[in-house]
Amino acid sequence: MSFSKDFMWGVATAAYQIEGAYNEDGKGLGIWDTYSRLPNTIKNGENGDISCNHYHLYKNDIKLMKEMGIKNYRFSISWPRVFPDGIGKVNKQGLEFYSDLVDTLLENGITPLVTLYHWNLPNALQRKGGWLNPESSDWFADYTKVIVDHLSDRVTYWITINEPQVFVGLGYKDGVHAPFYKLPTSELTQMSHNILLAHGKAVRTIRQYAKKKAIIGFAPTGPCSIPHSRSTEDIEVARKCSFALDRDNFIFTNSWWGDPIVFGQYPEEAHKALGEDMPSINPGDMAIISEPIDFYGANIYQSQNAFATPKYPGQPVTSLGWAITPEVLYWSPKFLYERYKLPILITENGMAGCDLVHLDGRVHDDYRIDFLTRYISALKQAVEDGIEVMGYMHWSFLDNFEWAKGYAPRFGLVYVDYLTQRRIIKNSGYWYKKVMGTNGESL
Ligand code: NOJ
Repeated sequence: MSFSKDFMWGVATAAYQIEGAYNEDGKGLGIWDTYSRLPNTIKNGENGDISCNHYHLYKNDIKLMKEMGIKNYRFSISWPRVFPDGIGKVNKQGLEFYSDLVDTLLENGITPLVTLYHWNLPNALQRKGGWLNPESSDWFADYTKVIVDHLSDRVTYWITINEPQVFVGLGYKDGVHAPFYKLPTSELTQMSHNILLAHGKAVRTIRQYAKKKAIIGFAPTGPCSIPHSRSTEDIEVARKCSFALDRDNFIFTNSWWGDPIVFGQYPEEAHKALGEDMPSINPGDMAIISEPIDFYGANIYQSQNAFATPKYPGQPVTSLGWAITPEVLYWSPKFLYERYKLPILITENGMAGCDLVHLDGRVHDDYRIDFLTRYISALKQAVEDGIEVMGYMHWSFLDNFEWAKGYAPRFGLVYVDYLTQRRIIKNSGYWYKKVMGTNGESL
């Protein structure tokens, strides 16, 4: 058995990273629009003001998707584009943009997968305390309701929140992503709880108001260990490391977020490690948080656990210095599936490169083809071993704004010349077309 006939091949992006048009047509500002202006925060002082200008070029971009044989597209909605103040007044032009985007995708035979939160929290809400405000989960549910009312006649696939590990960990613990805070543990746990509630309330909202069947998940990330060998003992060590949690790293783990969402409780280890810093939990909270979902999303790039997969001198890395560890796309879906027993959707995987246009006008990113051949083959092996995997969304469709790292790391299957906004399909884009077209048989 290989990839199923209905396996979802696709690509992923996020609003702030590609849209630009940061202050047009009634859009409000988000924390990335404002805080990226602080000096010494983003590499080279860059930001997403213009980026790929996808807001204006989306029709061409979708044409390109069609040309590349892309059948599924995971994109995110910019909350401040729809609600300039986060709550209250709706910006009709913002909603229309996403409605037109969905229509254009469908006209081109592309299925939309909507991510509701990919990090650009409305600034007005940050001023009210952001995710620390006890009302934040209701704000998110209200926003979700408006999106569902307008798009659920045409959208089936919903992803509530992208990588809570990273936006809380880097944005509020380590202070390297907007809004660049370094909060104490007790506030990080309460914030996590509010975000988990926001996820749960969004799931309930989608279920209640969707105009057609909704398929819902979220898109976490987390450390995954690769076993030293296939011995049962080594596999169990790697599994344990993939879900281990302590006081310093809890925000970044799989289990801090996954266990409450799927099991309705925080991991036992969290209670031990965090003690009095655990969030205060109201009656009914855990039931909201664990409102059943349909799939477990997973953004998977590298095996990060130094214990089970030690780094070694000269280990191959991407241009961001991330270890190239293809087996992670076998073990991570396997461990997640065996723990949470939900179909896995690979919501992101890909690599940053120093791509450039060669003299012949093409982008010869053969290293990306090599990378993806290894990673997707590992995923295929997982599928052959009985792991239920719904699909694979490549990160990313276009080169884009890589948050604090700016524009230098290029993740796209399509090269973007930011001076002219010209797009060039990279060699990997043509290669991926074949992979999708043959349902992975050409690997
Ligand atoms: C994680 C994030 O979801 C996405 O925004 C980011 O660009 C990629 N992975 C690569 O770091």
